[in-house]
Amino acid sequence: MAAEISKEKIDSKQEEEAAAEEIWKYVFGFTPMAVIKCAIELGIPDILQKHENPMTLAELASEIGCSSSSLHRIMRFLIQYKIFQEKPISETTLGYAQTPLSRLLTRDGKNSMADFVLLESSPVMLAPWHKLSARVLSKEDSPFGAVHGGDDVWKFAAANPGHSKLIDDAMACDARVAVRAVIEGCPEVFEGLKTVVDVGGGDGTALRLIVEGCPWIKGINFDLPHVVSVAPVCKGVEHVGGNMFDRIPKADAAYLMVG
Ligand SMILES: C[S@@+](CC[C@H](N)C(=O)[O-])C[C@H]1O[C@@H](n2cnc3c(N)ncnc32)[C@H](O)[C@@H]1O
Repeated sequence: MAAEISKEKIDSKQEEEAAAEEIWKYVFGFTPMAVIKCAIELGIPDILQKHENPMTLAELASEIGCSSSSLHRIMRFLIQYKIFQEKPISETTLGYAQTPLSRLLTRDGKNSMADFVLLESSPVMLAPWHKLSARVLSKEDSPFGAVHGGDDVWKFAAANPGHSKLIDDAMACDARVAVRAVIEGCPEVFEGLKTVVDVGGGDGTALRLIVEGCPWIKGINFDLPHVVSVAPVCKGVEHVGGNMFDRIPKADAAYLMVG
């Protein structure tokens, strides 16, 4: 009995010690997003990708145009999180190199998620999270509206072209991954279709990939007018602006993906 009580005491002490360590994860929980955003903005994944061989701290700092000492702190954090890795350059020197994770953070990589990180880490998207408790207490209808003058995200984007571009670029990241998987995994869903309308298709990335993979299809990219007015021209895809709650263009099939 005495042995059981003392084991319980030891277990509970160990749990408390583990909790005292764990709490720091939450105190500084924002840092991985902030530091990864910093790495994308400095173009570190792109520079390492272009360089091919591992780079020394001095080489990387000179390419970015910053001091080695501040860059060293950023890189130490990112190595710790396994975003980048260190590889030997010579018997005595280590250099920084890409990992599968950092390849997803290059600006124009095939499966890049960099623009999605930049959207979600933007002040516009982070501010509503500070209203979460008010939302739970039902003091605010929409946390986004509470910090952005009552607008929902689409109305806000219509009035703020910079933020609209962040959204379109982020959604394109997701579309690139999802559409490739659909075309490779179940191409039969596109058989026999002459026209496909993508409802809320953003900048048309999803349809561009569908039409590239299935060139017999004519794509209609349907989205809000402020989105399609800046969407890149794409062969085989017509951009149509409107409100899906009023009407959507006629087609053999409708595609609706929410990123
Ligand atoms: C979450 S994004 C999804 C984009 C894309 N389908 C994807 O998954 O990558 C939603 C899209 O719907 C569009 N949208 C929102 N409200 C709309 C409306 N009432 N009519 C048409 N499009 C709308 C937005 O502009 C945005 O491009």
